[in-house]
Amino acid sequence: MAMENLKQFLVVLSAAAAIGFIAIIFVLRWVLHFQDGLAWDGGLAEFNWHPVLTVTGFIFLQGIAIIVYRLPWTWQCSKLMMKFIHAGLNLLAFVFAVIAMVAVFDFHNAANIPNMYSLHSWLGLTAVILYGLQLVLGVGMYLIPVTPVSWRATFMPFHVYGGLLLFASIIAVALMGITEKLIFGLKDPKYKDSPPEAIFVNVLGVLLVLFGSLILWIATRTSWKRPRDQILHSLHTNGGGGDNTKVASALSQLQDGSDAEATGDVRKRSNKADEQAN
Ligand code: HEM
Repeated sequence: MAMENLKQFLVVLSAAAAIGFIAIIFVLRWVLHFQDGLAWDGGLAEFNWHPVLTVTGFIFLQGIAIIVYRLPWTWQCSKLMMKFIHAGLNLLAFVFAVIAMVAVFDFHNAANIPNMYSLHSWLGLTAVILYGLQLVLGVGMYLIPVTPVSWRATFMPFHVYGGLLLFASIIAVALMGITEKLIFGLKDPKYKDSPPEAIFVNVLGVLLVLFGSLILWIATRTSWKRPRDQILHSLHTNGGGGDNTKVASALSQLQDGSDAEATGDVRKRSNKADEQAN
């Protein structure tokens, strides 16, 4: 299916994917080469699961989940199937995040380090809890067939805003964690003396910011939405009234029941437009 600025989309998508992969390689090299590796033994190697799982799951997988509807080669798939993929990737990201939390709490408890004292931990745990809530509400609203169409439409702006806010906040939380770990961990030479590990991990932080920026760019381009969603978006932003021919043609393209929540909303607007016209 045709997409406006397909070339531009592919360039931004490839850059995001490449930067995301490089960030994963960086976090693995950090813990395997500069740190004590990975293990589940209550020690520093157990802590290391925390950055690895948050970067691969909570940041990378969540980023892909956010833009999965935008991939033009998925536009022949039903909306329902894409919703399952979106929800599945978000669920996987959540599972990674929960295991990452267990790793750091377990490490703290084994080493008698207090829990939840830092701003990083406050914002981080809040983000994980809100992410879980977003997941439950998303499934309840958009995957359970009995949820009224009007609820789905009303909740959608909150779902989109909440998702993007959480994604950006989680990257900020990761940057705080990275900085803390470098300050705590680097002793001789210290962080302020810029040893190779510090430079390497600072670059990891820059990569996370770039990945986040590209994902947010893709997610906020209306012209890169699935064509059906684009039609709905323009009907919504144009107020839905006035041009009934456009509304009718949009509706005829939306006969597949998988877009039901949005279709219902457009249909209501179309009826309103009809009422106004009569
Ligand atoms: C601790 C969340 C990423 C480094 C914690 C704690 C939470 C948390 C809730 C508190 C654990 C406790 O008190 O026992 C998150 C979330 C992240 C994230 C949601 C998602 C991006 C990272 C990353 C690093 C990191 C990428 C880099 C190494 C640390 C460190 C601690 C910690 C050093 C122990 C000190 C402290 O409690 O602040 N994290 N974290 N975190 N995290 Fe993260």
